[in-house]
Amino acid sequence: MSKKTSGAGARILSPRERLVIALDVDSADEALGIVNELRDATGLFKVGHQLFTAFGPDIVRKIIDRGGKVFLDLKYHDIPNTVAKASAEAVKLGVSIFNVHSLGGLDMMRAAAEAAHEAAAKHGVNAPDVLAVTVLTSMDQDTLSKELKITRALPRMVLHLAKLAQRAGLSGVVASPQEIKMLRRSTRGPLVILTPGVRPHWAAKDDQKRILTPGEAVACGCDYIVVGRPVLKSADRKDAVMKILDEISAAIG
Ligand code: C5P
Repeated sequence: MSKKTSGAGARILSPRERLVIALDVDSADEALGIVNELRDATGLFKVGHQLFTAFGPDIVRKIIDRGGKVFLDLKYHDIPNTVAKASAEAVKLGVSIFNVHSLGGLDMMRAAAEAAHEAAAKHGVNAPDVLAVTVLTSMDQDTLSKELKITRALPRMVLHLAKLAQRAGLSGVVASPQEIKMLRRSTRGPLVILTPGVRPHWAAKDDQKRILTPGEAVACGCDYIVVGRPVLKSADRKDAVMKILDEISAAIG
C-alpha cells in the first residue's frame, strides 16, 4: 500500500490518480492482463462483486503485487461488528479505497472508519479512504417512497446520507454525476467524491443514462472517476486511457 498521506478530500490529485478502471471481467487472467497493460497509466482498479466472488482476495493481492492500487467495491452493509472486521481485513489486503452502505447507519459507518484506522496503524500502512454509497443510482424516487417508505426527496436523502457519512468519520461518498455539484455546494469540510456513470464523448453510453464526460465530472468537483467499458472494450486500451487523462488535464487546468 502507498505510504502517501491520504487526507480525505483535501488532496491534490493528478489526472492519473483520479482515474479508476472498473475490472468488470469474468477471468482472472484478463483482469491481470489489463492491470499489466494499464498500471503505469491509471490510478486504481476497481474490484467488484463479480471478480471478488469468483477469485476472492487472491485477485486483490495479485493486482497489488503487480503494482496496481485497488478500490474494493463490496459495499459492506451489516451489523457494526461484522463491518468493522471486514474493514480491517480490507486494510490488511492493502486496498486503497473500499466502501460501505450509508444505510447501515452511523454506528456501522463509524465502526468501519475506526476499524480501518486501527488496522492501518497496526500494520503500519496509511488508512484507505472509506466511502459511503448513499442511494444507489438504480433506485428512483418511487423506490424510496413507495417501496422503502422513505418520504424525503431523493437529492435531500443523498445529501443527508453524505453528511451522516462525514459525521461517522468516513472519507467521502460514491455519487452519481448528477449529485456532484449539489454535494460540493451543500457540504462543508473534506469530502472525497467518486463518480461512476462517466462517458467520454467518443464512447458508447452502454446502459448508462445520466452521464457526464470525464472533464465535466472533474470540473463539477469529483475527485475520482470510474470508467469501465469505454476502456475495456476499446481496441487500444492504453490510448483510451490517455485520451481520458488528457480530458481530465484540460478540465483541471
Ligand atoms: O462500464 P462502465 O463504465 O459503465 O462501468 C461503471 C462501473 O461503475 C461498473 O462497475 C458499475 O457497476 C459501477 N457503478 C455504476 N453506477 C453506479 C454505481 C456503480 O456504473 N451508480
